[in-house]
Amino acid sequence: MNSKGYKSKIKLNDTVILSDQDGLQSITVQPGESVQSRNGVFLHSDMLGKEYGSKMWSNKGKTYRWALHPTPELWTLSLPHRTQILYTPNISLITSLLELIPGTSVCESGTGSGSLSHAIARTIAPTGHLYTYDFHAERVQQANDEFTAHGLSELVTCQCRDVCREGFNVENYVTAIFLDLPNPWEVIPHCPKSFSPGYSRIVSFSPCVEQIQKSCIALRESGFIDIQMHECLSQQLQVSSCRITEARLDESTDKREERHVLSVVPRLCMPSHTGYLLSASYIKCNVHDL
Ligand SMILES: C[S@@+](CC[C@H](N)C(=O)[O-])C[C@H]1O[C@@H](n2cnc3c(N)ncnc32)[C@H](O)[C@@H]1O
Repeated sequence: MNSKGYKSKIKLNDTVILSDQDGLQSITVQPGESVQSRNGVFLHSDMLGKEYGSKMWSNKGKTYRWALHPTPELWTLSLPHRTQILYTPNISLITSLLELIPGTSVCESGTGSGSLSHAIARTIAPTGHLYTYDFHAERVQQANDEFTAHGLSELVTCQCRDVCREGFNVENYVTAIFLDLPNPWEVIPHCPKSFSPGYSRIVSFSPCVEQIQKSCIALRESGFIDIQMHECLSQQLQVSSCRITEARLDESTDKREERHVLSVVPRLCMPSHTGYLLSASYIKCNVHDL
């Protein structure tokens, strides 16, 4: 997640993701701090100097957790929520619809809890830049603290701004814009001035189809082309080993045979609708080409 790559050893003030069968927990390694569990205490000081990926035993030696290096995917599952957030299935589709690659410059609003921002920063590193905006000052402060703590401050500029009223303070520069706002159609008319000359992409996430309808109208009126709508429904398949009993039909006896087989079945519960992703392209003529 760090703009300079992965560290090998845990140091003071690092963000570490502790993982066990019950889930993930993110901590900032501090002197004198600890994590309590039913079967003992994990001292932060025990983690210092250990390799990322180490098994950390509790003080009673009864239970352990893996100490993992943060990645955008682990951070999304363990970050402190200030808002609703985007999860990895939507994030992966957003990244590809925006056509992000290392070096892309991107505008995003709102920053919210920074879940998507971390994934964008990792994708556009080491030479791209993310300009992310939220009109909630406290959220901007918290997001900036986290970007700094995660070594992303060179890749991300996070500012307090009402983008629906003022648009983005970046002109002729970015090739991708992402919106996760209650009223994206208000910011869409501001977007073309932020795009660099040539081909650019926009994606907007909205839970309700009425928001999509208004955004589609705004996209058409602002000169966007290739407008498409997507819904990301990710179905996980569960692979497990099970025993089945088969009747031996070729014999007169009722002898049955037990076999171990691998079964692949969809999980019984699956995340359903989260939102719609509206995507479009914009082509900006270079004045010299006219
Ligand atoms: C659902 S959250 C975004 C979550 C983010 N995508 C994530 O994955 O963590 C929406 C954010 O948009 C911000 N917002 C709403 N209207 C805004 C506006 N006009 N200008 C800037 N930010 C705005 C809110 O303060 C909120 O933090």
